[in-house]
Amino acid sequence: MKLFTSSLALQLFPLFSDSRKVALNPPICRNTPSSSGYPTVAVWDALNATVSGRLASVVPSAKYCAGLPDGGCTDAQWMSALFRGGIPGAMNQVNWEQGYDLRPPSLCLRNATMCGQGDVPIYSVEAETVADIQAALKFSKTHNLRMAVKSSGHDYLGRSTAPYSLLIHTSKFRNISFTDSFFIGPEDMGSAVTIGSGVYANTVYEQGRANARAVVGGLAATTCTAGGYVQGAGHSPLSPALGLAADNALEFNVVVASGELLQVNSISHPDLFYALRGGGPGSWGVIVSVTFRTFPTFNVTASLIRLSIANATVAGSLAITHAHHIFDWDSVRASQYFWLVPSVTSPGSFVMVLNTFMPNTTASRSMALLEPLINASLALPGISLISQEYTYGEINEALYQADDRVGLNVVLGSRFVTETTYRNSPTKIGQVYSKLLESGSTEYVHFIIEVTSFNPFRLAGFLAIWLRGGKVAENAKISSAVHPGWRIAKAHASTENIDSCWILILVAQILLTSSWQDSTSLTEIQAARKFFQTKQLPILEEVVGSNAGSYSNEADVLEPDFQTTLYGPNYAKLSAIKKKYDPEDLFIVGAGVGSERWDEWGLCKI
Ligand SMILES: *[C@@H]1O[C@H](CO)[C@@H](O)[C@H](O)[C@H]1NC(C)=O
Ligand SMILES: *[C@@H]1O[C@H](CO)[C@@H](O)[C@H](O)[C@H]1NC(C)=O
Ligand SMILES: *[C@@H]1O[C@H](CO)[C@@H](O)[C@H](O)[C@H]1NC(C)=O
Ligand SMILES: *[C@@H]1O[C@H](CO)[C@@H](O)[C@H](O)[C@H]1NC(C)=O
Ligand SMILES: *[C@@H]1O[C@H](CO)[C@@H](O)[C@H](O)[C@H]1NC(C)=O
Ligand SMILES: *[C@@H]1O[C@H](CO)[C@@H](O)[C@H](O)[C@H]1NC(C)=O
Ligand SMILES: *[C@@H]1O[C@H](CO)[C@@H](O)[C@H](O)[C@H]1NC(C)=O
Repeated sequence: MKLFTSSLALQLFPLFSDSRKVALNPPICRNTPSSSGYPTVAVWDALNATVSGRLASVVPSAKYCAGLPDGGCTDAQWMSALFRGGIPGAMNQVNWEQGYDLRPPSLCLRNATMCGQGDVPIYSVEAETVADIQAALKFSKTHNLRMAVKSSGHDYLGRSTAPYSLLIHTSKFRNISFTDSFFIGPEDMGSAVTIGSGVYANTVYEQGRANARAVVGGLAATTCTAGGYVQGAGHSPLSPALGLAADNALEFNVVVASGELLQVNSISHPDLFYALRGGGPGSWGVIVSVTFRTFPTFNVTASLIRLSIANATVAGSLAITHAHHIFDWDSVRASQYFWLVPSVTSPGSFVMVLNTFMPNTTASRSMALLEPLINASLALPGISLISQEYTYGEINEALYQADDRVGLNVVLGSRFVTETTYRNSPTKIGQVYSKLLESGSTEYVHFIIEVTSFNPFRLAGFLAIWLRGGKVAENAKISSAVHPGWRIAKAHASTENIDSCWILILVAQILLTSSWQDSTSLTEIQAARKFFQTKQLPILEEVVGSNAGSYSNEADVLEPDFQTTLYGPNYAKLSAIKKKYDPEDLFIVGAGVGSERWDEWGLCKI
């Protein structure tokens, strides 16, 4: 007989002590509404009173929309990250709300007549104070509930949602304050900013501009700098110049599983400080705020270049050319988002988008630095320049975006591509590119063309590369849980399988015929979810090898060996830290530390 020594099992034991059979094998599942131990309405009401009425019933975003006075959301609302951020149950990408794997599947689709709760939590504590978080944690422990933590819902692995769970929603932690000297013990760490876990990146940039300070944050408007972003490592257009967000974090205020609010820094709790910087989001506690180093503001040139590409073969040649030029901008510590998308207007052809940030570089200097790549690209048959724009201005203005376009179904997969690979094998990189484009287009062009009128801008990204290196590599000596792959990476390659209307259309048909069991369409959805593992990864591995790591915030939640792939050699240490601060596994997320002990929903131990 297996001995259950965890305190979770001990807690459960008395509940079932009347049944000998169960007592010998204590259940190791969280309570769900069908469990006898699930709180009654009166008990929930008592929690609501404790949190000053901030307990909300949570519904999927489509149901929320259906309940609006106009009977629906406009497309603009549906695709707005700001709008979705105000809905407790909404994720940025709607597929993470769906219970594709629940039996039976439980989906809630836009404008549909039927709606299942899917993977959306049942209740949410819309926390405004530390005491609210503590009350929610205590309640979860007492009643053995699955808990989820969310700041904005900008999340590519579905970690901030979970079926039958109690959500702790930190979107109201919106304080932000700058200081000229931040102390860790006796040491003045210099200028810093303390950011609440619900503060959007665009607010940080607005405030950064007002205070003439630069903060390493994400490019998307509603990434929460002090939320899952920094816990996963936090890559930024500023990273080659200033490092990852995790490299710049000085202190975390975090409510841990015991309920204590800890001030976590290099002196007070070095182990937890290590884990919170790169050890993955959602696994350590509920963050209230994070203090980051700041830098004097500076100007950048942000540029956007778009090239049209005749076909996938030409796209491969262009990728080779790009790989040859990828070191051209190191002198200015540039960051670049390099994106190949199937063309909206001309099927079979592609568009390459280059979004480059060059710190302390004028527009003319920036043009001169990009010209060799542009000229070499235009010398290839089948390539032409669509447009190029260079904007010189203050960094916070360059990073500020009003909103993000979301509301699609998106799954990601990624691998680090090392500097050595770029130096030694640029041709191979190009070949892998064309193969990926070809593998994608055969499977997905159909829906891409169908959905272009729906969202022409965001759809159909296949392989995006962020240039890294520079300060990210130099920061290798920092002791943190940042995957060592970051320190040797020139780029982080990710495939984005965006299948918005493909899923919407097919599943809408299922709903119309009330045929949840339509295995064909659900099979296709499953194929799309597994596309990275089954088709794209084997191609990517031809150039990155089988041991390349992946950025834990922009990865495939289905990675079979996520421990190594997402956390590399840090996993054993992270597991030990997890045991110390979260012995009962309250904080379990997909492909997160300790999740190997739980099923895919974090509901039952396996
Ligand atoms: C919690 O209390 C508030 C204020 O009384 C109320 O508006 C809200 O509906 C309650 N939440 C739930 C889940 O009952
Ligand atoms: C859903 O309904 C709204 C109007 O409420 C409409 O604008 C939108 O196009 C519809 N979307 C889909 C996917 O049916
Ligand atoms: C946010 O700032 C206000 C005003 O200074 C303060 O009362 C509140 O406690 C702060 N909230 C948190 C979570 O730190
Ligand atoms: C920009 O230039 C200023 C002045 O030379 C320098 O202090 C600052 O570190 C530079 N910033 C970056 C990000 O390179
Ligand atoms: C790029 O091409 C343009 C037009 O042919 C030419 O004027 C310019 O000198 C070229 N630049 C480089 C760096 O080769
Ligand atoms: C791709 O485009 C190039 C340039 O237009 C052309 O020479 C080549 O034949 C095309 N290849 C395919 C497979 O269509
Ligand atoms: C930064 O760019 C702005 C234009 O947006 C300009 O007014 C300012 O002088 C520039 N600052 C520096 C230090 O070049």
